[in-house]
Amino acid sequence: MINETLTPDSPATEATAPLPRLRIRGVGRDFQTKAGVTRAVSNVDLDIERGEFVALIGRSGCGKTTLLRMIGGLLAPSAGTIEVDGRHLWRDDRVEHSAVARLGFVFQESNLFPWFSVLDNIALPLKLRGVGKAERRARATELAELVGLAGFEKSYPRELSGGMRQRAAIARSLSTEPDLLLMDEPFGALDALTRERMNLELQRIVLQTRSTVVFVTHDIPEAVFLADRVVHMTPRPGRIRQILSVPDAKPRDIELQTTPGFNEIVRNLRHDLDEEE
Ligand SMILES: Nc1ncnc2c1ncn2[C@@H]1O[C@H](COP(=O)(O)OP(=O)(O)OP(=O)(O)O)[C@@H](O)[C@H]1O
Ligand SMILES: [Mg+2]
Repeated sequence: MINETLTPDSPATEATAPLPRLRIRGVGRDFQTKAGVTRAVSNVDLDIERGEFVALIGRSGCGKTTLLRMIGGLLAPSAGTIEVDGRHLWRDDRVEHSAVARLGFVFQESNLFPWFSVLDNIALPLKLRGVGKAERRARATELAELVGLAGFEKSYPRELSGGMRQRAAIARSLSTEPDLLLMDEPFGALDALTRERMNLELQRIVLQTRSTVVFVTHDIPEAVFLADRVVHMTPRPGRIRQILSVPDAKPRDIELQTTPGFNEIVRNLRHDLDEEE
């Protein structure tokens, strides 16, 4: 039995250890402004495993979006390296397209095209990749159902509620079956009840698609409810202050939010955020 001959320290184990989906090492980003240099992100080290859900929290201006944009291939780091599945995402200022092709991005605003139906919006990334009409419509129909938009495929974005538009945007980001889903305050504009429902929907979708997620939010209970780990960043320069694991098994029930364990994690994070400045 090969497995029995392996110990945790043996080279064979090391050689077969799975790569993290995302490996971030010493990543920083400066911006030149009239007032001088802003160090938006400094010296960030973080590994994210396959299937892991990581929430990024921190005060406004602490570098969450900047970090997400670097991971998403939208902004080159000034320092450090980012690897997706062991492949460098950036070579100097040039992004490695094969690595970006495996990413999905959801922004605060749903950014749907107003002149396209829900189905065409969801299918657009597939169209851009040259997937044939029948196949992309079939896939988009499945995704509309997955996010609870069955029956709204022919609707236009203006005919949907904010939560429905965000679900369409999530479906669109899933259309290419991304290995890594990057979400920047996707539910920031929603009312509390819709947001709670969206958290449950997102949890279900992510578990079903086994996606790895980096999720930026200002909402601490939302971060703790959704995440396997919560990364707390502090500003000037933006860096990681602490990383907290949330041990509760998934899928999680909304009732979790009333338990003492959950509330203690939320309280501790809130206390640490309040301590800044
Ligand atoms: N393009 C840019 N040019 C100059 N400065 C920038 C640029 N983008 C971000 N910054 C600065 O970098 C810092 C981090 O900004 P970032 O948008 O990453 O913060 P954030 O944590 O996402 O904030 P929020 O919670 O408000 O969205 C801020 O001080 C911001 O002013
Ligand atoms: Mg931001």
